[in-house]
Amino acid sequence: MRHTIGFYGAGNMAQAMIAGLLNAGFYQKEEIYVYNHRYEPTLKKVEEEYEVRAISEEKTLFEQTDLIIFAVKPAVLTQVLPQIKKYLTKEHLLISVAAGVSIRQIAALTGPQKIIRAMPNTPATIQQAMSSISPNELVPSEQTQFVVEVFNSFGKAKVVSEEVIDAVVGVSGSAPAYVYLFIEALADGAVSEGLARADAYEFAAQAVLGAAKMVAETGKHPGELKDEVTSPKGTTIAAVKALEENNFRADVMKAVEAAAKKNHEMSKDT
Ligand SMILES: NC(=O)c1ccc[n+]([C@@H]2O[C@H](COP(=O)([O-])OP(=O)(O)OC[C@H]3O[C@@H](n4cnc5c(N)ncnc54)[C@H](OP(=O)(O)O)[C@@H]3O)[C@@H](O)[C@H]2O)c1
Repeated sequence: MRHTIGFYGAGNMAQAMIAGLLNAGFYQKEEIYVYNHRYEPTLKKVEEEYEVRAISEEKTLFEQTDLIIFAVKPAVLTQVLPQIKKYLTKEHLLISVAAGVSIRQIAALTGPQKIIRAMPNTPATIQQAMSSISPNELVPSEQTQFVVEVFNSFGKAKVVSEEVIDAVVGVSGSAPAYVYLFIEALADGAVSEGLARADAYEFAAQAVLGAAKMVAETGKHPGELKDEVTSPKGTTIAAVKALEENNFRADVMKAVEAAAKKNHEMSKDT
């Protein structure tokens, strides 16, 4: 069954998803409804740029659509759910992309409802998101599959149990930031060795993109790919040794754990 789609919130995440749906041809612009708590500047921009249906009444969003993606900050989500509860029917499928707000917390504010918690990341803006999809027990499997296709339209999506969502935040939700640090550091190293700054970013970014594609597209273990490029007494093994001496892998693992821990703590606070 095809769902009518609506967004509650029109910020960065909503815009990334709207762009993805339109670029993929998954929905036509007149089929997408977007509500925001005020028209200017965000909703106006979205209406002008994407030519979707901008609406200013919450009630209209829930009358016109049955699949609603909440793309507001976690504190806003818990504030608005009690006020929109009166518009909900059992047909509505609610999707939250808010960090740190559990399905149980959402259901406590809406009552029994079909709920999916999704965790995309910012490369959604260029249709390269990695998203997790966690449905509650009320969501039929064909509707979960539909939502996976919606999220696939702006990247890649996978169904996981909500229990592992903290790990997802650590490995993909927050990960673009650590990869940016890595790219910046690679480029700084190259600049230190004499490469022009702009060239250094271009070389570093393409090296990371290419390596990521090697992992994703060959299906080979990352260790095997590393072995293939480290020749005896060569340059690459010298660099790998320098990283290992400075606990590179342990540091990255700690970063993932820190993001996961923070997400877990946020779920307890909201
Ligand atoms: N950005 C990411 O990397 C990322 C990744 C995964 C998940 N998320 C989640 O996505 C959600 C949205 O993030 P975002 O980056 O899209 O945020 P954002 O750009 O700040 O957008 C937030 C939206 O909420 C609206 N809003 C603000 N205050 C409101 C209120 N009191 N009542 C109703 N609506 C209100 C904003 O409208 P105005 O602009 O008009 O104020 C805007 O449309 C967050 O929960 C975040 O955890 C984000």
